[in-house]
Amino acid sequence: KGLKDQFVIDAGQKHFGAIVCKSCGMIYTAANPEDETQHAHYHQRFLEGIKYVGWKKERIVAEFWDGKIILVLPGDPKYAIRKAEDVRELVDNELGFKQVMPNCPSKIKTFLYVSDEKKVVGCLIAEPIKQAFRVLTEPASPDSPKQRTFYNQRAWQCSSSPEPALCGISRIWVFSLMRRKGIARRLVDTVRNCFMFGCFLSTNEIAFSDPTPDGKLFATKYCNT
Ligand code: ACO
Ligand code: ZN
Repeated sequence: KGLKDQFVIDAGQKHFGAIVCKSCGMIYTAANPEDETQHAHYHQRFLEGIKYVGWKKERIVAEFWDGKIILVLPGDPKYAIRKAEDVRELVDNELGFKQVMPNCPSKIKTFLYVSDEKKVVGCLIAEPIKQAFRVLTEPASPDSPKQRTFYNQRAWQCSSSPEPALCGISRIWVFSLMRRKGIARRLVDTVRNCFMFGCFLSTNEIAFSDPTPDGKLFATKYCNT
């Protein structure tokens, strides 16, 4: 059996009998008890994590037809910080990031996109930076199975000389069932507007750290339009 055939068969099995939960977005096999248990756990944890009760004096930095963007700063009340941390945990879990503490927790700005259904459906974590390394090579095509491992390893090649930058985006995430509605775009627009008082940052002044394939596709598109 060739490599290509194996790939096709594996991909086929993965989607056989799979369903997508309309609340938490998890893809699982309904007939499989193990999968169902795993889903039940994830479902509860996820919905609890994105639930947004709200608080007095929340810092609304943008409002839209389908929701609003809240900014959480390090000096904010415990319940606000707690929500930002809970969401970051979900995001890190999905991205497969190890629980690493930010370089400078006192400078972290968390932007939460809260839907009209009172759910956090988007999150962007920004921090001040001084320099960034531009990504040089395009990753191998994700369509070619042979290149797939390479592609998934985030093996981007970066320039060796740093360029000045001001705002580092260490995490950007949008709930899987709400993607391609411009939520990430609106989060980044808002960060550029709010990150430094009184100025609108250019796309050269922001940098995405360690982007995933999704993150790279979004960033490339965003920075060129
Ligand atoms: N494939 C191709 N193009 C894309 C993709 C994609 N997966 N995602 C965004 N784009 C491009 C499109 O051109 C899109 O415009 P269009 O829909 O009109 O064609 C444009 O970017 C704007 O996209 P948005 O709708 O604003 O992006 P979205 O709200 O879907 O969020 C994000 C994008 C955050 C990358 C989302 O896919 C996600 O959360 N993915 C999983 C988490 C992740 O990998 N995050 C990035 C980690 S890297 C980091 O945090 C620094
Ligand atoms: Zn679910």
